[in-house]
Amino acid sequence: MSTVADKPAAITSRFDPRYEITLYRHVGVDGAHTLEHYRARGGYRAAEKALTEMTPTQVIDEVKASGLRGRGGAGFPAGLKWSFMPPIDGRQRFIVCNADESEPGSFKDRYLMEDDPHQLIEGMLIAGWAIQATIGVLYVRGEYYVAYERMRDAIAEARAAGLLGRGVFATEPDGEGDEATPASPGFDFDIILHRGAGAYICGEETALMNSFEGLRANPRLKPPFPAQAGVYGLPTTINNVESFCSVVHIVERGGAWYASMGTDDSKGTKLYQLSGPVARPGVYEMPMGATFRELIYDLGGGPTEPAKALIPGGSSTPLLPWSDETLDLPMDYGTMARVGSMLGTGGVIVIPESQCMVDAMANVVRFYAHESCGKCTPCREGVATWLPKMYQKLLAGLGTRDDLTLMEEMVRNLRGTAFCPLADACAMPVAASFQHFRNEYEHLVDHGAPKYPTVSRWAE
Ligand SMILES: Cc1cc2nc3c(=O)[nH]c(=O)nc-3n(C[C@H](O)[C@H](O)[C@H](O)COP(=O)(O)O)c2cc1C
Repeated sequence: MSTVADKPAAITSRFDPRYEITLYRHVGVDGAHTLEHYRARGGYRAAEKALTEMTPTQVIDEVKASGLRGRGGAGFPAGLKWSFMPPIDGRQRFIVCNADESEPGSFKDRYLMEDDPHQLIEGMLIAGWAIQATIGVLYVRGEYYVAYERMRDAIAEARAAGLLGRGVFATEPDGEGDEATPASPGFDFDIILHRGAGAYICGEETALMNSFEGLRANPRLKPPFPAQAGVYGLPTTINNVESFCSVVHIVERGGAWYASMGTDDSKGTKLYQLSGPVARPGVYEMPMGATFRELIYDLGGGPTEPAKALIPGGSSTPLLPWSDETLDLPMDYGTMARVGSMLGTGGVIVIPESQCMVDAMANVVRFYAHESCGKCTPCREGVATWLPKMYQKLLAGLGTRDDLTLMEEMVRNLRGTAFCPLADACAMPVAASFQHFRNEYEHLVDHGAPKYPTVSRWAE
């Protein structure tokens, strides 16, 4: 079981005076997870402002003005998503926080929950107000036990303090006659904490809702989108942990302040996660558009051995070859799309020269094969069955050049044909490895042995 003490050293030494730290300011700080600590540093002030001074539409407009894009991977504009909720019609409405965080290379949400759980609760409360949802669902990855405990305790603290439950920020009438401010009933809002049981597919928003409802975690057909038919078929808005936490600062300091950081199409700060053979792996908060070089060298201390590629946004995003040009790319949504990849969750993985690329991709494929829910044929047969078998054949030294051509074709055919994006998440990195490192595949089939020595145990 993981503990808070497991944190990479960089978590507690991530500050760099060049960057504005908002989301992670209190991560790694002793006692920061308590309500007392949170309130002492102005916690719940943004929620009070939203609930007592702003209409729901004003909150949504502020989030739209901030340019915040969802931090769960797809980068969909948060304010726009919130405005998709149907008009209020008396039906229960839900806000859902996706804390399933299972993409290899992603580990930012975990520390937000472990060390600053009230920041997330406050973000959900503000979002609940904005879309007028009185129930929040917090779906936490099953393996995140410390995060679960911290969230459980923080929710209890918030409830005891009247920050969750009935009449949040209710006020008594004040003054007399024309000067009187009428009483406000406050806002009814509570959070249901739900633990997953360890399946990556539960991070896909509709599978998550099925799982929460006690059903098998298969994705649902879209449309209808969650705003029309989400949890129990009722209007629902779902966002990632980092997205909700960002909302707190947007309300507190204004959408314009948030939009002043970042690039044209990617605003604010982002939690980049750095892993692989680097001196200081960890989570680093930087403005959107910071470069890979700044992250890997200035903050991460540089690779500890020669590198040949990097994965920019978690295992599902196409890798980029290591070069000066790549290192100088801004890490934002637009730039990553322009170079044929994705920002994803911002989980940057450095791949060393010594690592056999075929083996690295076999490992990625093995993960997606294990996590495929089996609902649709392309994913069940392609991702979960055929691709891992092909990689096993290659790594056993039994592959042929024709196999490589067939694999490339199959991976092309997988793109966009499955029920949900999980198959794409597997096909995209494999396709990129063929594009940039086909020579390693060819070396393997021609010589019956990998070009580079490092292979994982499962392939032996
Ligand atoms: C297979 C799969 C796994 C996903 N896992 C996560 C996850 O663990 N956390 C997350 O926030 N989003 C995940 N997503 C994205 C969600 O479906 C959804 O887009 C996101 O929660 C929306 O929040 P955002 O707009 O704030 O990013 C996943 C998507 C897919 C297809």
